[in-house]
Amino acid sequence: MRIQDGCFTAFVALGLAAPGPAAAQRAAPGRLIDSLVARMTLEEKLGQLNLPSVDNQPSPAQLEQVRKGQVGGFLNLAGAQATRDAQRIAVTESRLHIPLLLGLDVIHGYRTIFPIPLAEAATWDPAVAESTARAAAREAAAAGVNWTFAPMVDIARDPRWGRIAEGSGEDPYLGSAMAAARVRGFQGKDLRAPDAVMATVKHFAAYGGAEGGRDYNTVDVPERTLREIYLPPYRAGVEAGAGSIMTSFNEIGGIPSHANRWLVTTLLRDEWKFPGFVVSDWTGVEELRNHGVAGSRADAGKVALEAGVDMDMVSRIYLEDLPALVRAGRIPIATVDAAVRRVLAGKRALGLFDDPYRGSSVERERSVLLAPEQRQLARSVAQAAIVLLKNDGNLLPLGPTRHTLAVIGPLADDHVAALGSWAGRGDPRDAVTPLEGIKTRAGTGTEVRYAKGCGIVDTATGGFAEAVALARQANVALLVLGEAGDMSGEAASRSSLGFPGVQQQLLEAVQATGTPVVLILMNGRPLIVQWAADHVPAIVEAWFLGVETGPALAGVLFGDVSPSGKLPVTFPRAVGQIPIYYNHKNTGRPAGTDKYTSKYTDLPSSPLFPFGYGLSYTSFEYKDLKLSAPSIAAGGTLNVSVTVTNTGVREGTDVAQLYVHDEVASVTRPVRALAGFRRVSLRPGESRTLEFTLTPKELGLYDQRMRFVVEPGKFRVYVGGSSEAGLEGEFEVRAGAGVERR
Ligand code: BGC
Repeated sequence: MRIQDGCFTAFVALGLAAPGPAAAQRAAPGRLIDSLVARMTLEEKLGQLNLPSVDNQPSPAQLEQVRKGQVGGFLNLAGAQATRDAQRIAVTESRLHIPLLLGLDVIHGYRTIFPIPLAEAATWDPAVAESTARAAAREAAAAGVNWTFAPMVDIARDPRWGRIAEGSGEDPYLGSAMAAARVRGFQGKDLRAPDAVMATVKHFAAYGGAEGGRDYNTVDVPERTLREIYLPPYRAGVEAGAGSIMTSFNEIGGIPSHANRWLVTTLLRDEWKFPGFVVSDWTGVEELRNHGVAGSRADAGKVALEAGVDMDMVSRIYLEDLPALVRAGRIPIATVDAAVRRVLAGKRALGLFDDPYRGSSVERERSVLLAPEQRQLARSVAQAAIVLLKNDGNLLPLGPTRHTLAVIGPLADDHVAALGSWAGRGDPRDAVTPLEGIKTRAGTGTEVRYAKGCGIVDTATGGFAEAVALARQANVALLVLGEAGDMSGEAASRSSLGFPGVQQQLLEAVQATGTPVVLILMNGRPLIVQWAADHVPAIVEAWFLGVETGPALAGVLFGDVSPSGKLPVTFPRAVGQIPIYYNHKNTGRPAGTDKYTSKYTDLPSSPLFPFGYGLSYTSFEYKDLKLSAPSIAAGGTLNVSVTVTNTGVREGTDVAQLYVHDEVASVTRPVRALAGFRRVSLRPGESRTLEFTLTPKELGLYDQRMRFVVEPGKFRVYVGGSSEAGLEGEFEVRAGAGVERR
């Protein structure tokens, strides 16, 4: 059932079957494409599948290719004027007047940069993700971009992998909710609307499973892990109607994604009924030669096209090497035609045949970019993304009596880092740094003094003395430490996850002054902060929060809002624990006091901070867990209710989390799996009863024959404010459950 529903939604969202009022073409959706395909030469067909990148502006040679119909679109071309110019050449000077796709990595904002996706996932609020994607689309579309290479929905269980910053963390349930929300946000209700851009769900598939956390590395996960852990967010994005999907650089079990017909055609198109088109990653087609599954460029092109990869990003192989193969009968023309149809259908879904410019203009661009409401949104999202990791003695929020604050650290006043990696067309000058935000918020009466102390990565300690002296004279030292913005993101894997450079020494020197320290972390991944957790009274996880970093952070530090973010990813104690994730298996010898159990001899098995964790300036209590029935029928649903009370003296927001565990099954199950969550804001003393519904989707598993089923037996549920939630209950699924879906 669900498969059909999702597919129908996707179809309608793409506009493939929806008759519209204006152009005659719309009345008969297939006819435009039929007539184009019938008139296209082989080179023009392969041109539609060719996606080159521009270096700011298309070169004269690239514009000539547009005239010849050899370009299906560009990536990295943005700006109303430049996109209009290129589009005009395509629709007026090429033989068939086919408009261009104009793609860009609009990952967490176009000009108004929002928190990095990992930070945004810490809000546990899909509505927030939808709103920032909407806002990013509004700006990008005004600048002539009609296609974004987002959302990145790769599950990541390894913080060494720099691209963990671009996704929603380690959990398939949270990741799916965020993936769908972002697709809805980018594409809006109508993909033809002038403020919508087509979404690309990427990187298909399991790119985050790179061995050793090294970017682009081999992935070797079995089909069960693929289906249970890695695939759900891609599927959620597809079911939300994403127009395109991008294949990933990695191989899975010996088959690179760009050559994986099972993945791209059997699973994605036949099983999931994805109606959109598939784009390669940057030179992903050519890289099949390095993978060793193609002996020549032509071979690589043939393998990728036949696997189902429709568009060739940057390799130029489809355009240059495939004509000869098609003419020689080695690739059926029907295979080319099918890919061309899918790309043209995407263009049509965007309304490009009706208005290739989609109402973009220099004036519109000027009025939309960085508009006050965009900044306002950036600030509120950034505030909700901040996670309070430790707050001994209620050091935070800073009270009105703190007269001198020492702001210290290489990230405290770094405009570039505040934006994080993949910052669209963001301008560091737009960013408000932590120091600037703190100064503004502190106002008169509190003195804010600043010392950088050291650089992010360099090893000079010459600035320590000034920082230490400043800390000595202050009531509180606010240390802003972490990574540069480009230390996470693509090709930014790290083998050690402590503070780079001499920041740890700076932290220890400042801590030794005896002045209370608030450690503020800026990073695109979990860092190893065991020493800080042992010694520093307060720790705030501030990720990379975008243009409104400073005001958002200051709002939390001074208590204008209570922190409400929760970790979307586990924070390890040491790199040696990686991969570490909450939804692990029990094993035959779960960690215990006995020597021969699954643990390290030199480290606790537990994480430093678990998935779903985050403190607040108030406290919450969970009680009255009620299940709607002691047992449910096969394929049935169960309601779980719980009462949450704000037991502190301040208003606050918690994220109530529901986890399930299938006690005995035909295959091993995670010790806990997230099955529901909700943000709940409460005044002091206020209570609210929340209800969650468990359906076969949350209770099912892939059995030994890889069928998705709900198996009979006992289940446990856990509810609370983190993955270590303590309130628990149980119920039974009666025998007779059938196959729900594949
Ligand atoms: C990245 C993609 C990105 C593409 C285009 C590649 O290197 O892996 O995520 O969309 O470049 O910029």
